[in-house]
Amino acid sequence: MDAAVSARAEVLRAQIAHHDRLYYELDAPEIPDAEYDRLFRELQALEAEHPELATPDSPTRRVGGRPLDSFAPVRHVVAMLSIRTETDTEASGALNFDARVRRELGLGALADDAPPVEYAAELKFDGLAINLRYEHGVLVQAATRGDGETGEDVTQNVRTIRDVPLRLTPLPAKGQDRGQPSLFDAPGLPEVLEVRGEVYMRRDDFDAYNERAITAGEKTLVNPRNGAAGSIRQLDPAIAAKRPLSFYAYGLGEVRGWDLPATHAGVLDALVAFGLPVSEHRAVCTGGEALAAFHARIAEARPSLPFDIDGVVYKVNSLALQAKMGFVTREPRWAVAHKYPAQEALTTVQDIEVQVGRTGKLTPVARLAPVFVGGVTVTNATLHNESEIRRKDVHVGDTVVIRRAGDVIPEVVSVLSDRRPADARAFSMPSHCPVCGSDVVREEGEVDHRCTGGLYCSAQRKQAVLHFAQRRAMDVEGLGDRLVEQLVDSGLIRTLPDLYRLGVLKLAELDRMAEKSAENLVASLEKSKRTTLGRFMFALGIRHVGEATAKDLARHLGSMDRIMDASVEELAQVPDVGPVVAASIHTFFAQPHNREVVEQLRACGIEWEEGEAQVASGPLVGRTVVLTGTLPTLSRDQAKDLLEAAGAKVTSAVSKKTDFVVAGTDAGSKLTKAQELGINILDESGLMSMLEKKEP
Ligand code: IVH
Repeated sequence: MDAAVSARAEVLRAQIAHHDRLYYELDAPEIPDAEYDRLFRELQALEAEHPELATPDSPTRRVGGRPLDSFAPVRHVVAMLSIRTETDTEASGALNFDARVRRELGLGALADDAPPVEYAAELKFDGLAINLRYEHGVLVQAATRGDGETGEDVTQNVRTIRDVPLRLTPLPAKGQDRGQPSLFDAPGLPEVLEVRGEVYMRRDDFDAYNERAITAGEKTLVNPRNGAAGSIRQLDPAIAAKRPLSFYAYGLGEVRGWDLPATHAGVLDALVAFGLPVSEHRAVCTGGEALAAFHARIAEARPSLPFDIDGVVYKVNSLALQAKMGFVTREPRWAVAHKYPAQEALTTVQDIEVQVGRTGKLTPVARLAPVFVGGVTVTNATLHNESEIRRKDVHVGDTVVIRRAGDVIPEVVSVLSDRRPADARAFSMPSHCPVCGSDVVREEGEVDHRCTGGLYCSAQRKQAVLHFAQRRAMDVEGLGDRLVEQLVDSGLIRTLPDLYRLGVLKLAELDRMAEKSAENLVASLEKSKRTTLGRFMFALGIRHVGEATAKDLARHLGSMDRIMDASVEELAQVPDVGPVVAASIHTFFAQPHNREVVEQLRACGIEWEEGEAQVASGPLVGRTVVLTGTLPTLSRDQAKDLLEAAGAKVTSAVSKKTDFVVAGTDAGSKLTKAQELGINILDESGLMSMLEKKEP
């Protein structure tokens, strides 16, 4: 055998052992899973080709982590198995699994008349597997998986998780007497029920935790999964208790004194009845196509789930068939994990540039060597601000972990500092705006640097135009990024009123602009002129004046002139306008050029109904409402419009002032907060009936 091959295997084993230790024992991985999988598969392939290389201590021979000495060992009565992974991230992954199951059950190919197999499909949670042991309905022990045979006793830490019931709810009496009830059996509660599931950390909890850690100067968590795993394996339960963890159940371990349902789906329903949290994202699917459809549906929902998943899991639904199929080594034949494209990947930072936003905020952006992640090729990632770069210690030339989840902007998660080249370059914020050359300032107590150029700065001008034209502001259709870029760069637009002075002819001269689109844009601009004072106020893009504040100002002060001439004190009288917002509005209108913009826009024909301060009408006047999660039929914008039309004020944060929260599926921390504060919670139909109520 080639010495080079043997040396490569040696290197891979050492690297994998290093990363195993970081991952399983220190809960602080450096590289994304996909990168680890690549190393692991390379070693597996080498060993398969050269069996003499497969040493007994090779990491390919070991599943999962070693139990730590510090926790008491727990021997699992029923081994905690691993699960086979279908790495084909296309729909065919589901079909492959179905074909394999049919073959193993001797059901023949799909084309035959043999009936399709029924499956239970659920999410693959990304956390730490835990076995909860309930005796007579009382939680007596919680253990990690460890090596599958022996785990660690983490009962103290798991008890601090709010989702984990310390006592089960007894099931209705029916069927209870069929087991072997002992004298101690409470009716409806099994003698022993081991529940398996995943401890995980929600993304908002993770973010909030890290934010607090940064302020307190404490260590931050690398990612939610390691946040969860690291917290559960904290020796000090007081520390674990401070980490916000959640739990979902997905299976059983040892069971005594309870007749099992016939199907896995039945088991999950029973777990719900026992009071355990089971994700609602589960389905019974008949045949491989239905599994593929589930995979696709969850792929779409994935970015809006409040927690990370790396795939879905399919299980043969019938427990009898599961028993018939059995296991290969430590993986059941009746289950598979079907992955999604990884959301994290390794790449290098080729440069760090600075972008200028609407309010002049400077955002450092990493230019990356192109990398495929989360289903697309990524070349840029945000670095947020200078403190963030310091904290993560990002240099130009560094190898970094980047993350892209759904449509969110890709971000740099961490740096592999031991791969830093000698010529790596540190970053510092420029003292002058890279676009217009104006001074850059960082105000007291703020993390952001800002360009002081205002609308003199073309970058700010572009963002201001886009903000002005957006749907919830002036609603000008057909004015996208590219076009605004051209309009500003060509000098056609210097101030907002210039927008209304564009003619079809001037527009049609621009690159890629057909006469028809030019006509449409002019028509759309014309239409936008009839608006409301609230929309217009929002469209101006005054710092700290969001949509709700703009509407409040319109409602309470009634006219543009009153708003423009209001003193800070008068402005602060408007509900929810605090001193910072009032000062920002006042400063804005104290600038003659801003007043000039307003006058010119009016001169261009923009109009709204002015009036005395209006008292809104409708069944929800004076009510403050927060929307969260996905509603079954209404979009967020539609729900907001309906609420506002009924006189309600829609805000984004839940506080004591919130009158009620409308929550859909996958509602996150806002729902939890509302529950804590005892605020009324409605679903979509509750909202609809509230809206139908006539005024008192
Ligand atoms: S079932 C017999 N279902 O994936 C099958 N596992 O290697 C045992 N996981 O660490 C696992 N979501 O913690 C199952 N819905 C789900 C799961 C799930 C996540 C984790 C589990 C284990 C790994 C399997």
